[in-house]
Amino acid sequence: MRIDIITVLPELLDSPFQHSIMKRAANKGLLEIHFHNPRDFGIGKNKQIDDYQYGGGAGMVMMIQPLAECIEQLKKERTYDEIIFLTPDGTTYNQSIANQLSLHENLILICGHYKGIDERVRIHYVTKEISIGDYVLSGGELAAAILVDSIGRLLPGVLNDETSALFDSFQDNLLAPPVYTRPSEYKGWKVPDVLLSGNDKKIDDWRYDQALKRTKKRRPDLLD
Ligand code: ADE
Repeated sequence: MRIDIITVLPELLDSPFQHSIMKRAANKGLLEIHFHNPRDFGIGKNKQIDDYQYGGGAGMVMMIQPLAECIEQLKKERTYDEIIFLTPDGTTYNQSIANQLSLHENLILICGHYKGIDERVRIHYVTKEISIGDYVLSGGELAAAILVDSIGRLLPGVLNDETSALFDSFQDNLLAPPVYTRPSEYKGWKVPDVLLSGNDKKIDDWRYDQALKRTKKRRPDLLD
């Protein structure tokens, strides 16, 4: 998969993809991430990318031309499955959207800043609008990092069997069950006997039961 991220602050995304699972995905050639700065398409000698909003009001708006030229240059080079704008008024992101996006070849993520982007970019270029939750970030970069991480780990070959995404919380609309590791007893606090029993069937049943109980208690909405 290839993900092109349009951002005025590529530095913000330097680190998130250079460690752990995202680094492995890149090293294995399974996930390619490229950054594009609309400033390179900025207007005039100051490379302007934002301006006051028509009709008045506080806050600058990202202009259409730098974003449009950036997107069009990318579209000339390959076909994109989705052009995604990260915005608090988009569809709330979840595992099911991550699963769907992970099936694609090429994605563009647009990170907004200031008061937002000229609505015409959304109307004429954007195919999906995604929010990572009901709160406002200063820009779309951290939201983009969350999308890339959650999608990247689903790509076939990125995770090994032991860490397989199939066992993640949310994959079957259930939260993950509790996990334990050595020692089996610490300050008198014991690991549940069943996990030490060696009986795979009993362990699977216990995990399912715990996942169900945890979901009922913490996220009953997932069971509806
Ligand atoms: N940009 C600013 N806030 C955001 C949010 N909650 N989700 C996605 N992009 C954003």
